[in-house]
Amino acid sequence: MPILFDPIQLGAIKASNRIIMAPMSRSRATKDHIPTPMMIEYYRQRATAGLIISEGTGISQEGMGFPYAPGIWNKEQVEAWKPITRAVHDEGGKIICQLWHMGRTVHSSFYPSPISASATTAPGHAHTYDGKKAYVQARALPVDEIPRLLNDYAKAAQNAMNSGFDGVQIHAANGYLIDEFLRDSSNFRQDEYGGSIENRLRLLIEITQRVCHEVGSDRTSVRLSPNERVQGVFDSNAKSLFIAASQALSREKINFLEVREPQIGNKDNYVEKDLTEADYHPPIFPSMRENFKGNFVINGTYNGQLAQKIVKAGQVDAVSFGRPFISNPDLVEKIKTGKPFVAHDSSIWYTQDEKGYIDFK
Ligand SMILES: Cc1cc2nc3c(=O)[nH]c(=O)nc-3n(C[C@H](O)[C@H](O)[C@H](O)COP(=O)(O)O)c2cc1C
Repeated sequence: MPILFDPIQLGAIKASNRIIMAPMSRSRATKDHIPTPMMIEYYRQRATAGLIISEGTGISQEGMGFPYAPGIWNKEQVEAWKPITRAVHDEGGKIICQLWHMGRTVHSSFYPSPISASATTAPGHAHTYDGKKAYVQARALPVDEIPRLLNDYAKAAQNAMNSGFDGVQIHAANGYLIDEFLRDSSNFRQDEYGGSIENRLRLLIEITQRVCHEVGSDRTSVRLSPNERVQGVFDSNAKSLFIAASQALSREKINFLEVREPQIGNKDNYVEKDLTEADYHPPIFPSMRENFKGNFVINGTYNGQLAQKIVKAGQVDAVSFGRPFISNPDLVEKIKTGKPFVAHDSSIWYTQDEKGYIDFK
């Protein structure tokens, strides 16, 4: 069985090891969602990861509701990403772009009429440029707008390739647009995009097919988060839903499936502070893996030892790390040598500063 430090072929992308940097929003772009020069240094410092998955990157103005997060829908954004991908490549690393549509969690101060599967409202408050504001009710995306949405994904995927990314990841996790279509707590549609599991999977699969068509299935990955209530989104039968999703994505021959599933009993989780025991089902990822033929990447509360164990046991092909990469740009080296990780500090996650961003040694 391979070990964490062995290379892995992820479709067309050869990663030099199996320690992947998970996607993490860091709010260092401009107010207009254009990447900034300090992002060059941030990603360059972390290029020893086998593969970097970029922070969530807006596919369109409609899909972007996160302060100072980057986008990839216009020319200026494409140009500003180029030196970032170049810096990672110059260090021998690989980087893909996480394509993000935030669905109902886009506050109306970012975009006047946010969309979702159904006319629902996310619980809690959005971070906006004017402080925290209660979410607004989204409008249900009409079927005749779906071709336009697919075009937005296609354009963003092409833009990512033009920016020098090695591929893309479709963000279908964490309660955003695609996840809102997947799960029955937020999808009440009566048409072919709602009701049965097959129908709720339709949007994910159509987006995947379209993006694969644009950039190649060997450069397209998908992220799912089966086992959590996140931003008010959950499913009454998550296991069946996510097994079906794994089977359907397997047929599309994507280059890898990344599954975010915090380990059972480990509540060290960044957003879902209000989770109770009832929200933790037995892990679903082993059944997903059985039903997915390609490369399988797991994420959530892993440390070096646990990651090594699960890869060696052949349970997954690689592990992605989020928070540890924030304060340990040399995470791969630290895992290799058994050096302790610098602890993470959530107060510096979303500031616009260089401090807490590019000053970790
Ligand atoms: C600051 C921060 C920003 C995040 N932003 C994203 C994001 O843009 N896209 C995404 O899919 N997940 C995002 N996540 C979730 C992480 O990718 C990861 O799933 C989570 O941190 C659990 O993994 P870990 O225990 O290794 O940190 C974010 C997490 C953190 C801490």
